[in-house]
Amino acid sequence: MNKKVELNIDGKVLELPTITGSEGEEGMDISALRSKTGFITLDPGYGNTGSCKSAITFIDGEKGILRYRGYDIAELAEKSSFVETAYLLIYGELPTATELAEFSTLLTENQMLHESMRFHFEGFPHTAHPMAILSAMINAASSYYPDLASGDNREMNFPHHAARLISQIRTIAAFAYRKAHDLPPIYPRSTLDYTANFLHMMFSQPGEDCELNPEIVKALDLIFLLHADHEQNCSTSTVRTVASSRANLFASASAGVCALWGPLHGGANQAVLEMLEEIHQEGDDGTKFLTEVKNKVGNRRLMGFGHRVYKSFDPRAVIIKQQCDKVLAQLHKSDPLLEIAKKLEEIALNDEYFIARKLYPNVDFYSGIIMRAIGIPTDMFTVMFAIGRMPGWVANYKEVMEDTDSRIVRPRQIYTGATLRPFVPLDKRA
Ligand code: CMC
Repeated sequence: MNKKVELNIDGKVLELPTITGSEGEEGMDISALRSKTGFITLDPGYGNTGSCKSAITFIDGEKGILRYRGYDIAELAEKSSFVETAYLLIYGELPTATELAEFSTLLTENQMLHESMRFHFEGFPHTAHPMAILSAMINAASSYYPDLASGDNREMNFPHHAARLISQIRTIAAFAYRKAHDLPPIYPRSTLDYTANFLHMMFSQPGEDCELNPEIVKALDLIFLLHADHEQNCSTSTVRTVASSRANLFASASAGVCALWGPLHGGANQAVLEMLEEIHQEGDDGTKFLTEVKNKVGNRRLMGFGHRVYKSFDPRAVIIKQQCDKVLAQLHKSDPLLEIAKKLEEIALNDEYFIARKLYPNVDFYSGIIMRAIGIPTDMFTVMFAIGRMPGWVANYKEVMEDTDSRIVRPRQIYTGATLRPFVPLDKRA
């Protein structure tokens, strides 16, 4: 039975309807609050605000649970692939063999960028961050598909546009890397699977194919899969916000890339590596750095630790840590940064500062070490996150478009600025 929620404002009682999700999470519906009471709610960072109903991903941060469409992340990590999981997220069910084959074909058929996109790449300076290129090029790609802008066709062609975006983000990412390193572009190859194809575009040379070690392909595929969705995080909320204005799929995803870029979100994987490198260069084993973090010297944070939602452990971090050990063993690599990471983790997990604040390693803590071992440069780490997250953004975009109750996102605010005052002419200002 639903609990009764009453709000008492100066003796006037308003009963608020409640809503219970399929996993038992409870919410109170405040959509009539302002019209009935004049009050709004204030919730900086939306830590207590449900912005939508969604059937895509479930997280229980207290218990360390993450499920895509009801499937546990650990089971998907073990038994599924990134492409199959992408289908699951977007269409709601695991594909049949035929559906998976059709989806893979659609990805392959849509992997090529429009040839004139090459000129856009040429315009970027060599110093451009690949996330800037990625966001700009996803938006630019939308201009080659005019039907994206027209409502009816957009719906009809959704499977093509979705596949195009998931496939082309990988092509754009590899081209961005090659541009930054002054290397000629390598075109995608139809005979290769999604992740192998990406590594081919990154590391092959004209006339000389790179070696595709199956373990490395699997490790990167796993990284993509683990990043594929994460409910209403900063970038996904951004995608949904942009989609709520009925902007097209590519424009919404491009905004998601920008939101992901910041170091408190997807940019944390790059920030983790930079932090580990800095600690290493200073000859610190992590102890001095952690003391500074705890004393909030320069507002430093232990990057790759903490999460708004997870308060016991991040299940993705557990899987990725095991994968990290496997990849380094497979490549016969020992990495001093891994040793520092392990030391930081060991100290932090036993330190009162981190225990009291429920700060645990998140997905970004170890993913960077794997990517570094594979040879992916640090400034491409967040791009890897974006490739992985694209199916989640597409699934959320689809959900917004199919929700007949969806309204344009338009939060309120509590205004704290100056009250009405007369304009002061320039010669009278102090
Ligand atoms: N290192 C040191 N202290 C921290 C950290 C950290 N990584 N994270 C939070 N704190 C402290 C913070 O200083 C505050 O302390 P106090 O109560 O003394 O003021 C307390 O913990 C609560 O922090 P908060 O900023 O209110 O927490 P939040 O839920 O708003 O932030 C977070 C979540 C992920 C932004 C934050 O934990 C953080 O900045 N972590 C480092 C960046 C990072 O790894 N981000 C990747 C997140 S996982 C990938 C993704 O999904 O985006």
